[in-house]
Amino acid sequence: MELKKLIKDRRSIKVFKDQPVSSELIQELLRTAVWVPNHKMTQPWRFILVQGESKKKLAEASRAFNAAKERDPEKKNEAGQRAYDKLKNVPMFLIVVMKEDPNISMREEDYAATSCLIHNFSLLAWEQGIGMIWETYGMIHSHEFRNAAGVAPGERIVGSLHIGYPEKIPSPRERKPLEELLTILP
Ligand SMILES: Cc1cc2nc3c(=O)[nH]c(=O)nc-3n(C[C@H](O)[C@H](O)[C@H](O)COP(=O)(O)O)c2cc1C
Repeated sequence: MELKKLIKDRRSIKVFKDQPVSSELIQELLRTAVWVPNHKMTQPWRFILVQGESKKKLAEASRAFNAAKERDPEKKNEAGQRAYDKLKNVPMFLIVVMKEDPNISMREEDYAATSCLIHNFSLLAWEQGIGMIWETYGMIHSHEFRNAAGVAPGERIVGSLHIGYPEKIPSPRERKPLEELLTILP
């Protein structure tokens, strides 16, 4: 696909077909996605791929987290079940994890490079007809979610990517025109 079209056509996808995604294909895309600029070549990332039965672990973590968050004791079960079902219906998760450097500038640069990687991956996936959404819901920082995914101390979850074949592609939300954004110094 032409790069310009690929960049503009890609959308964040929330509703997926009930169709599995090949783990081998995702691995292939990741081998390419890591070719990002990366100051000091720290390569701080790693990936946790969750599909099939192991999705239940994340869904259970989400149940526990969301039930605990619900204040009304009568609604706790319902809130937990809703959260469980929501994650259980995602075909695949790719949790992108980054080692947190104690130095703040290194950490920021690492976060920037990891973000480039995620966008590379999302474009490569889109080219293959695969959609995703980069999620940063508060739960990713909870111990329930981190434990379920096997994230170690000193690691930060940069995104929980929900991946699958799109059932619904949302309309694009317009971007600000360049004229509003660009200053050309005389
Ligand atoms: C760092 C980052 C975090 C995001 N987190 C969420 C999220 O938690 N929930 C969500 O619905 N969308 C999330 N998004 C997706 C944006 O909402 C989406 O990119 C935006 O609405 C533009 O839509 P588009 O990607 O289809 O062009 C996130 C995007 C980025 C870059």
